[in-house]
Amino acid sequence: MDNIRQHIEQLRDELNQHNHRYYVLNSPTISDREFDMKMHELEDLEHAHPEYDDPLSPTHRVGSDLSAGFEQVPHIYPMLSLGNTYSIDDVDQWYTRLKTALPEQEIEIVGEMKFDGTGISLIYEHGRLVRAVTRGDGSHGDVVTENIKTIRSIPLILQGNDWPDKFEIRGEIVLPWTEFERLNAERAFNEEPLFANPRNAAAGTLKSLNPSVVASRGLDAYLYYLLGENLPYPTHYENMAAARRWGFKISDAMTLLYNLDEIDRFINHWDTARRELPVATDGLVFKVNSLKQQLNLGFTAKSPRWAIAYKFQAERAATRLRYVSFDVGRMGIITPVANLEPVLLSGTIVKRASLHNQDIMTSLDIHEGDMLYVEKGGEIIPKITGVDLENRLKGAEPVKFVSHCPACGTPLVRVDGEAAWVCPNKWGCQPQITGRVEHFVGRHMMNIDGIGEETAEILFSSGLVKNIADLYDLKVSDLMGLERFGQKSAERIIDGLEKSKSVGFERVLFALSIPYVGETTAKKIARTVHSIDRLMAMSLEQLQAIEDVGPRIAVSILDYFASETNRDNIARLRDAGLQFEMPETDKSVSSDALAGKSIVISGVFSLHSREQYKELIEQNGGKNVGSISKKTDFILAGENMGPSKLEKAQKLGIPIINEQDFLTMLQ
Ligand code: IVH
Repeated sequence: MDNIRQHIEQLRDELNQHNHRYYVLNSPTISDREFDMKMHELEDLEHAHPEYDDPLSPTHRVGSDLSAGFEQVPHIYPMLSLGNTYSIDDVDQWYTRLKTALPEQEIEIVGEMKFDGTGISLIYEHGRLVRAVTRGDGSHGDVVTENIKTIRSIPLILQGNDWPDKFEIRGEIVLPWTEFERLNAERAFNEEPLFANPRNAAAGTLKSLNPSVVASRGLDAYLYYLLGENLPYPTHYENMAAARRWGFKISDAMTLLYNLDEIDRFINHWDTARRELPVATDGLVFKVNSLKQQLNLGFTAKSPRWAIAYKFQAERAATRLRYVSFDVGRMGIITPVANLEPVLLSGTIVKRASLHNQDIMTSLDIHEGDMLYVEKGGEIIPKITGVDLENRLKGAEPVKFVSHCPACGTPLVRVDGEAAWVCPNKWGCQPQITGRVEHFVGRHMMNIDGIGEETAEILFSSGLVKNIADLYDLKVSDLMGLERFGQKSAERIIDGLEKSKSVGFERVLFALSIPYVGETTAKKIARTVHSIDRLMAMSLEQLQAIEDVGPRIAVSILDYFASETNRDNIARLRDAGLQFEMPETDKSVSSDALAGKSIVISGVFSLHSREQYKELIEQNGGKNVGSISKKTDFILAGENMGPSKLEKAQKLGIPIINEQDFLTMLQ
């Protein structure tokens, strides 16, 4: 008995962790199928042993994507999930059950795609979008209307006039494959972590606090469920056709099916045809067409009886490991890569798959020459999911992680609390140096044409460019002495270097390759701090007061400027004429964000001086006043605000705003 209880608890624990990884961290570590199997196992055990039930068991909830930063509202109708299966037989049995439950009735089924994105509920009133809410925990969701408004395929005002005055329509926010690949290519270039699949990318994007980020990502939306008091038609299919007329994107794959045979054919067709679709799908959904029949069939606690999801198998292949290589990135991070006998998977040939880091490699327990399982489900990036132990070669040794840098031989170090091993030889390890040069000249950084991977290697091996500052000492004659350079290509590079001197501080800061300072963080820092001199003088606390800068980034910035070589490089780049300050015009961000507001300044500030804050208030239409009164709109407070002021503010209920929130207000 105790064993069963232990097993139940262990499953709950595991599922809770996977839920967290999936919904909160957006980085699942097991496939949906494995997750579903564990969930089914737990459901069965709990069913057989009701004495061990727990209202907080993962079987009693739909999973949560609630996050801080958005208003939360209850759903008008709970957002339930669908019963799902991987077998055609189960779908057939579901259909047979319908026949028994609705004897002697014609039953029409609608077959549709199961889109692999993130669920959304859209509320329309009088033909206008009033609210968009995520699924959340199924009963409450986050209001993400502003983000949703950036998705062009979602109508804000409906066409026609036969829509109900008030209704809800549900669907899936998806990131099309082309956009997903573009986004990941950009992230790879910036050495930011890649999204594992379009679903995570879509979910992550939708929860961005910045609608302009959402707008830049190319999200799309397919709608599949209309709810409300007075829907125009008695069937799901007709209502969807109406929604299509009102301007919603409804999949053309939606098909009416009249018997088992047609259902099976629908499955067989889409099992392969789905690969031609522009967006990720992870299965099919079958729904009873008649709303009256839906009503009669009703719901279980978690899902409708009138619908079922059939999930596609992730594509998997077995192939032999040739060897594990170890890549060195521009930050010195060592990534193990499985080099495989080429194998065809979902239409592409797979030869390499990242093993990410030592922990992941060790947990797979890979031995030399192993047969490895490679999977590509919703994921476009192939993933090693396991080892075929029966085919392990006799006497094969486990693959060991390297202890020394494969490029320069330096012993590797592991940073506390991080999974990555790093080569510390920043200034002598070729792939790190050429990687930083390639990053520096990239399109989003200094945008210097004519220097790719090969050129960066030639410049390094010729001894001309050992770090980024050396680039600005190059002359046409230096380059022409090298193999593969003619007058024209040499001039192009020198020209590009010259032009790069007008690239703004935000991009220069990003180009420097400060670990963890990506494009967005660099922008935030540049716009808050305004100059490299101020940045270099900041303490850990001051750095952390910058929006988006946590302890890890703050320490990384301090480390970066602690290095004499880095400081020396910056001095040389500055002498060469690069921009290490924001131009005056950008500093005086004039707006009317504070129009008509009376603001009291109190305390000691770390990001700007009191004088600068006074200027900022005035530039943005506000008035800086000396003492607190009923008319004060808020207090801009630094450290150590005077106790009498604090008391007065509290008594009058006047908001106290710190400098970070104040600067955010002005953005
Ligand atoms: S109908 C009450 N139709 O799958 C049933 N859902 O596990 C409402 N999904 O949360 C859902 N494609 O996010 C429905 N064609 C489709 C779908 C679909 C994807 C998602 C949806 C839902 C989940 C169910």
